[in-house]
Amino acid sequence: MTVESRFLKACRREPVDCTPVWFMRQAGRYMEEYRRLRERYTLLEMCRNPELAAEVTLQPIRRFELDAAIIFADILLPLPGMGVPFEFAAGEGPRILQPIRSVETIDRLRTADPRADLGFVLEAIRLVREQLPDGVALIGFAGAPFTLAGYMIEGGHSRHFALTRRLMYEEPAAWHRLLGLIAETTAAYLRAQIEAGAQAVQLFDSWVGTLSPDDYREYVLPHSRRIFSALDDLKVPTIHFSTGTAGYLDLVAEAGGMVQSVDWRIPLGRAWDLVGNGRAIQGNLDPLAMMAPLPVLRRKVEDVLGQAAGRPGHIFNLGHGFLPQTPVDSVAAVVEWVHAFRI
Ligand code: CP3
Repeated sequence: MTVESRFLKACRREPVDCTPVWFMRQAGRYMEEYRRLRERYTLLEMCRNPELAAEVTLQPIRRFELDAAIIFADILLPLPGMGVPFEFAAGEGPRILQPIRSVETIDRLRTADPRADLGFVLEAIRLVREQLPDGVALIGFAGAPFTLAGYMIEGGHSRHFALTRRLMYEEPAAWHRLLGLIAETTAAYLRAQIEAGAQAVQLFDSWVGTLSPDDYREYVLPHSRRIFSALDDLKVPTIHFSTGTAGYLDLVAEAGGMVQSVDWRIPLGRAWDLVGNGRAIQGNLDPLAMMAPLPVLRRKVEDVLGQAAGRPGHIFNLGHGFLPQTPVDSVAAVVEWVHAFRI
């Protein structure tokens, strides 16, 4: 008999024996076995080789009693297939070779084909599913339209996304074409990940919180909503992740997602009130709390759990990903405390 993951049950707000837990960036530099592989391969080599990607996905699963694995990939992988090549410059993060800053360059873009352009991710998903222990679900993911457009336009990470804003305000028609193209690519890519074996998918809108509520509603919401609507018929849990959106979580929820993933800038209970108790919630420990001594960390973990107050549908996670400095022993402790916690 197969055991259904408590993570999938919580996404659907079904009763669970204890709160499920997984972490964004749970495969990464804080783990010695990851760093050892990274000495031999670049990040993109690891992403594009299905055996390596599957191996890295499973590393944290072997170490901790996590309730879900997230496929090892990156939100930027669909860009080359759309006509936007990029690289990871050592120690600097992503670099887009020719940033998209004019209407003409937007008009030359195309949608990516998940099977032709991203077959290695789909193959990695199949490999992980064959090896995952019973009860541990596999999460697929993609970047959301605003966050991906931000990288395409800025050319790399940015604090204010000023060039992105300028294009959005000066050329609204081209902006909507760009986000439409990203939404179409992303919907097809997530669907292909689900068909390959992903049991839930997360849409990462990491930087959308730089927008005001009105701009979110006008320039972003319809495109993110299109992705969730396109996946509706598959009945697979969808997670909508954003940061910095505490002021308009109701709007983010309106765009879609069976689960809303919230950051630490708002108490989880208040976030849940804004999102509505009809949805599941994921979060929201401050990633920097992982640096605290164990007794302080424990208090913070139990505060998040207490904020959920026994409502069905809480998935414990951070408000954003682990930093490379995260102590491995603290990760193990958090997983144990979450599973042991009773209201
Ligand atoms: O374990 C997991 O969470 C799965 C793997 C994963 C990666 N990237 C691998 C990766 C996931 C889910 C992502 C998503 C991603 N990628 C996001 C959204 C989530 C977020 O953090 O907001 C974004 C914005 C990116 C783009 C990206 N990739 C940046 C800005 C960077 C550089 C920043 C850094 O930490 O160095 C990356 C590199 C990257 N992607 C790493 C990993 C594990 C860094 C590790 C390395 O270089 O080995």
